[in-house]
Amino acid sequence: MSYTETEKETIAVPEKVSKRFFLETYGCQMNISDSEIVTALLQKEGYKSTLSPAEADVVLLNTCAIRENAEDKIRVRIKSLKAVKKRNPDLIIGVLGCMAERLKKKLLEEEHLVDIVVGPDAYRSLPELINGLEDGGKAVNVLLSREETYADINPVRLSGNGITAYISIMRGCDNMCSFCVVPFTRGRERSRDPETIMNEAKLLFEQGYREVTLLGQNVDSYKWFGGGPKKDFEKVTAENKNAEVVSFASLLEKVALIHPLLRVRFTTSNPQDMTNEVLHVIAKYPNICKYIHLPMQAGSSSMLERMNRGYDREKYLRRIEAIREIIPGCSISTDIIAGFCSETEEEHKETLSLMEKVKFDYAYIFTYSERPGTLAAKKYKDDIPEEIKLTRMQEILARQRRQSMDNNEADIGKVFEVLVESHSKRSKQQLVGRNSQYKSIVFTSEQHKPGDYVHVCITKCTSGTLLGEVLN
Ligand code: 5AD
Ligand code: SF4
Repeated sequence: MSYTETEKETIAVPEKVSKRFFLETYGCQMNISDSEIVTALLQKEGYKSTLSPAEADVVLLNTCAIRENAEDKIRVRIKSLKAVKKRNPDLIIGVLGCMAERLKKKLLEEEHLVDIVVGPDAYRSLPELINGLEDGGKAVNVLLSREETYADINPVRLSGNGITAYISIMRGCDNMCSFCVVPFTRGRERSRDPETIMNEAKLLFEQGYREVTLLGQNVDSYKWFGGGPKKDFEKVTAENKNAEVVSFASLLEKVALIHPLLRVRFTTSNPQDMTNEVLHVIAKYPNICKYIHLPMQAGSSSMLERMNRGYDREKYLRRIEAIREIIPGCSISTDIIAGFCSETEEEHKETLSLMEKVKFDYAYIFTYSERPGTLAAKKYKDDIPEEIKLTRMQEILARQRRQSMDNNEADIGKVFEVLVESHSKRSKQQLVGRNSQYKSIVFTSEQHKPGDYVHVCITKCTSGTLLGEVLN
């Protein structure tokens, strides 16, 4: 048997190749992006990924803490690993991400199967923590950082379609919405060096990717001052009066200019911070997608005040009007929380009426879940009974379903440029992609493949999908 140079090397250092890891991701796109970073960090150290916990030496769960039920699901998953650990007593179980950061070493006390707890800013220490784990030992690293952006790490893409990818442009959040645990689990906001963002996007394009989504908890507050993140502003400008300031609008423009065939998306925008400058950049470049996710959370000014969102109903509506005026044909989605502290029937009705006015294309709807340590948990009572929260959520859902259907029906007869992402699960001849407005479009074609741009005329729809025919 012959070995290549690298194989020889790895055989000479057995601990470098001996470990296989299984990584499972919960929660938002940011967590998917973080898992791609963790995979890169572990692979660099010689770890190999496996698709089953039974084959792994290390099982990692990258977790979410945004609502209680997200954490409950993870606890059930941890318990389900008991049988795997019984068969392989050396198995290391690690909890990463927001739940790890929220509970810290308490998680080890509450979930005895867990060996390692690592927060979102401490992933670089993961290989060392795993290696240093002594028989029966436990390890925790939940230090939050003001600098860490993993800017130098080239993520291992896990989405699998080879066409769309996430790029993290910043980490953390300074907004302190009263219901939200994110500022506590992901720490202070910091922006990533734009040069490294551009390089990542260019590399993806060269590898055949055709769409990047720029990720941040609040992309509108992205800021980089020639040679340093926002906090270094005074120092940098004192040293260099001509230092270039990169705002989110200018970053978006830079990425759009990489190649006209590279589509650019971003999330999440914040009504409090989204500028018209950003809207004009979106309007100017055909390859910046005409889609904005703008969480409203609630429709009444009194609720928005309690939520500490930094805008009221009127300001939210003015942002919507600006989008409609500057970017005609832009689709808009939102997040809504039902049953936040002391929400009256009147306030709930105002949420429904704001939805009526905006006519969102899509909405992510949640019932309020109190998170320990947040402003709301300290200041307000979680006093809306669960049945009422659920009834209100159902009303919001029904309202949105009707609206999504109406909006999709209005697309019938229109022609959209679709970026093909994959073949449909049902049939090899059916392709699935999205238009600029982020709507999922299914059509039949034997001539096209993932990565192609195809003009499709919409013929039918459901509330979630558009169906169409290729335009010759
Ligand atoms: N309860 C319910 N929903 C929440 N979200 C954030 N925190 C909570 C909470 N405590 C929702 C918000 C946010 C989305 C990502 O999750 O709508 O925009
Ligand atoms: Fe949470 Fe508000 Fe920050 Fe979004 S903007 S992550 S809701 S604190």
